[in-house]
Amino acid sequence: MAERTRVVVAGYGRLGAELARGLAQADDVEVVGVARRAPAGAHLTLAGRDVPVSADVPGLLDATAPRVLLEASLPEAAEGHVRAALDRGISPVVATSGLSSTFVEELRAVCRQRRLAAVVAPNLSLGAVVLLHLASIAGRFFDHVEIIEMHRQGKADAPSGTALHTAQLLAAARDVPFSRAPTTRFTLPGVRGGELEGIGIHSVRLPGLVAHQEVIFGGLGQTLTLRHDTTSNESYVPGALLAVRHVLKSQELTYGLAALLGLE
Ligand SMILES: NC(=O)c1ccc[n+]([C@@H]2O[C@H](COP(=O)([O-])OP(=O)(O)OC[C@H]3O[C@@H](n4cnc5c(N)ncnc54)[C@H](OP(=O)(O)O)[C@@H]3O)[C@@H](O)[C@H]2O)c1
Repeated sequence: MAERTRVVVAGYGRLGAELARGLAQADDVEVVGVARRAPAGAHLTLAGRDVPVSADVPGLLDATAPRVLLEASLPEAAEGHVRAALDRGISPVVATSGLSSTFVEELRAVCRQRRLAAVVAPNLSLGAVVLLHLASIAGRFFDHVEIIEMHRQGKADAPSGTALHTAQLLAAARDVPFSRAPTTRFTLPGVRGGELEGIGIHSVRLPGLVAHQEVIFGGLGQTLTLRHDTTSNESYVPGALLAVRHVLKSQELTYGLAALLGLE
């Protein structure tokens, strides 16, 4: 049997724990370590195997010698974890959102220089990646569009990074800006939501939601609605596996999963 790809997962919160459990089930992957702030020095069991847990990412990488670091902690910790991986020739797959564009460009340059693969995937959900692709096609044929993103009530930021990215992508795929029907009299402030590049963006936060997005295009006598629903965090596992497998056969940085799905 081919050797399994050794992966350390940094972050064991909502995303990291789901990814660690999901990857540990794959025949070609072995999760050899998990990083979180606490409790340091502990172990956990994944797919029947004992896995070390540590807050010391460089130490964990040295002790476990992974091929891939799957970064799924928080933006303030991610850069340090990725640098520790690069220093050791370990390919990073970054699921953590909110990396600065400066850091992504630095990462791209280091990868090019060292012929090392990395994937930065702010959205691991394959359905969301396909929705973005379809939306950028549809946006060429409609002059009006609004985005409604819906997330769990505890989400700290609004709008979601995916909604912003969708608006930027929609705008970049057109020569002329979208136009937004004006409202002349507000009886309740804020009801039209935010606006980016002529695109209305609305954020809904409710218990019971996970991550959902609608993109509604409007034209003469017609609308077109694209909608994606994440019903559980398991949705992120296939995208993470795709990225982990990709770095084994690449020597550069790939941003987003669209290229890995043949959508670019
Ligand atoms: N790419 C995608 O598709 C996608 C999907 C969902 C979320 N995200 C992003 O993924 C990130 C994590 O989200 P989440 O909901 O899982 O957050 P979370 O539940 O708050 O979990 C964060 C995890 O990071 C760990 N952590 C924080 N600082 C650390 C450090 N210095 N060293 C080691 N571990 C550290 C925490 O450790 P403790 O457990 O000890 O507190 C925790 O396990 C966010 O940036 C989020 O926006 C991306």
